[in-house]
Amino acid sequence: MAAEPGEIADKLLSRQILNEQVVIGRTESGIPFALEDRCPHRFAPLSIGRVVGENLQCGYHGAEFDQTGKCVNVPGQSTAPANACVRSFPVVEKQGYIWIWMGNPELAHDLSSIPACFYRSDDPAWDGGYGHFESLNVNFNLINDNLFDITHAEYVHPESFGAEEMRIYRNSEPGDAYVDQKTTYTVDEREIVFRMQSLNMTGGPFYRWMVATSMGKDEYVDPIDLDMEVSWAAPTFTAFLLNARPAGQPREQGVQVSNMHAITPATEYTSHYFYRSVKDYGPPELIEPFMQGVKAIFEQDKPLLEAQQLRVGEIDLFNQKPVSFAGDMLQQQARRINSRLLEAESA
Ligand code: FES
Ligand SMILES: [Fe+2]
Repeated sequence: MAAEPGEIADKLLSRQILNEQVVIGRTESGIPFALEDRCPHRFAPLSIGRVVGENLQCGYHGAEFDQTGKCVNVPGQSTAPANACVRSFPVVEKQGYIWIWMGNPELAHDLSSIPACFYRSDDPAWDGGYGHFESLNVNFNLINDNLFDITHAEYVHPESFGAEEMRIYRNSEPGDAYVDQKTTYTVDEREIVFRMQSLNMTGGPFYRWMVATSMGKDEYVDPIDLDMEVSWAAPTFTAFLLNARPAGQPREQGVQVSNMHAITPATEYTSHYFYRSVKDYGPPELIEPFMQGVKAIFEQDKPLLEAQQLRVGEIDLFNQKPVSFAGDMLQQQARRINSRLLEAESA
């Protein structure tokens, strides 16, 4: 994932992705593009230039580059030097985001690598907003691990997602059904899905807020039922689906929230963290407090992860023999999937 559409509306965006500085923008006709953010003439960042028609014009001496990165015009010169070009990266707009392919451009045609777990962002019945953190000082694997590990919510997010009930993540078994006080999971070639259910629960302020606001109230004090589905797709996409309702009511009457998270490495030790949160109920006025709430929650992970990264250092966590608890095996499975994909790609 490279950018939110709003980040390139009428402006150029310079972003470091996989150690490359890239300029991302949109041509006048609306086509998104991504080029190396360095003019081949005197190395000015192209991101301080501007879009002229279908080209990007350097802000220093006005050389123009098309979407393939080829220099098509040098002002005052009849032809552009043949070697004047910058690297271009394939981009596509899908599911409400701009996606980039940093690898061999000839392999960029397979859009199936954009995960289906983001399905709700295309559905107008689900309202919400975007957010992201730029360059967290954390390796992407640690953020992935964090999103996979529901048990941290009780300690890191006690006034929102946290609840003692989240401990059922440690009580897991293969399967794809919702089972009260259990976690069931399925592992595929590049996807892991798990489901948790807690009926009659009293904890979890955010889940209670969902039920309360669905009734137009500030508070809901009676027990609730909660179903949570978490879909992870390699390498770094996680989507949560929460269904909350007053205890005893059927699942179909629950209100739902979906949080999608995508991590894009900037460097080995810095990552961009994109999220999108949507819900299937409530008036438009509810979107702002909802988005403020989720932002505040994700902000709590940031200092923890950055502090963790300092202790982990530059050797991968799993090469330092960390202790594991029940339930940690799912994040290890995700890491194994990523290692396998990385190996296949390097080969
Ligand atoms: S640095 Fe870009 S045209 Fe000179
Ligand atoms: Fe968290």
